[in-house]
Amino acid sequence: MLRIIVASLLLVAVAYAAEQVCEARNGKNIITFSETPERTKFPCKYNALRATKCGKWKVTLSPGNTMEMEKMKRYVIKTMWVGVERISDGMKWEGRSDLKIARKYLNNIKKEPFVKKDGALSTGDVFTFGPRNADNKVTLVEKSGDFNITFGLYEPEGDWHKSSSFKFECFSSTFDPSDYPKQICGNGTKMEVREFKQAMDWTDQRKATLFHNVFTNMDIVQTDSDCLSAARAMTNKCKGDQQFEAARVCWPILGKPHIQRCISQNMDSPISAFRHCVEYVCSGYTDLNACLALSEEIDMCPQVPELSLKVRDNCKPDLFCN
Ligand SMILES: *[C@@H]1O[C@H](CO)[C@@H](O)[C@H](O)[C@H]1NC(C)=O
Ligand SMILES: *[C@@H]1O[C@H](CO)[C@@H](O)[C@H](O)[C@H]1NC(C)=O
Repeated sequence: MLRIIVASLLLVAVAYAAEQVCEARNGKNIITFSETPERTKFPCKYNALRATKCGKWKVTLSPGNTMEMEKMKRYVIKTMWVGVERISDGMKWEGRSDLKIARKYLNNIKKEPFVKKDGALSTGDVFTFGPRNADNKVTLVEKSGDFNITFGLYEPEGDWHKSSSFKFECFSSTFDPSDYPKQICGNGTKMEVREFKQAMDWTDQRKATLFHNVFTNMDIVQTDSDCLSAARAMTNKCKGDQQFEAARVCWPILGKPHIQRCISQNMDSPISAFRHCVEYVCSGYTDLNACLALSEEIDMCPQVPELSLKVRDNCKPDLFCN
């Protein structure tokens, strides 16, 4: 009996013990603070961290994915936005890196791997940088040792997407991560996306849940116009249950390799198709312009469940599904 109690106490402790690391590998495979794997298969920005407390700081980290067109199914992290706020006085530093800035730093063409964009603190007040000899990685090192943020660049040659990564490590004993869905890294509760899904009584795959959470989060400044339009449609046009319906119906366009690759191979843009899909679903399947644009993008591709046949009926009788 006692053993059972001790064992279940241990289980509870394990379920809530937040690891102080959140990272992405292969461009899209997130390992959250609870060590739960998730996938970010969309060429848009997301909040990996949002106002997570680590040591003296609140840290926000927004990677921006892109789709690699040459191999047509890989996601690569192209940009890395970092914001830190000193908890004691609210002073901030905000900046970003991307593949070019980081590569210039590694090649000794640029002095710093992250460019400051805003805030009263100077870069040198907060950070030093990792070494230039690191294999395809740049690191922001918080000066007093509170945390490290590493941005791994993809290698155009060889096993190229494997090195596309980020890693946030908090070394301070003061660590208070924000909850999912405010940040994808979560707060250390296991299976946070599934928990959220179950709390909402949604029965679908949790990928749809993740899409829903990313594209209804207007705190993220989407810079790609299709990502922005998809987020706006999901947030403003969709009413009630339509939001989740749009996520559920449209995510396979980006998340299922055979569909996404087919759209790319036909020289159309999967993120544009996703955007038109969201606009179409959020109009209650009445937006004829969205239907027409989408029909051109998914024509001659594998059937998108719940979508292709509606498009064929509503606006393109000769839509062909492979
Ligand atoms: C943080 O990153 C720097 C640069 O790569 C490294 O030298 C240092 O050991 C890291 N800190 C910890 C505590 O791992
Ligand atoms: C962690 O987040 C979950 C939602 O994902 C929430 O239900 C839970 O209360 C949070 N736990 C703590 C300790 O803040």
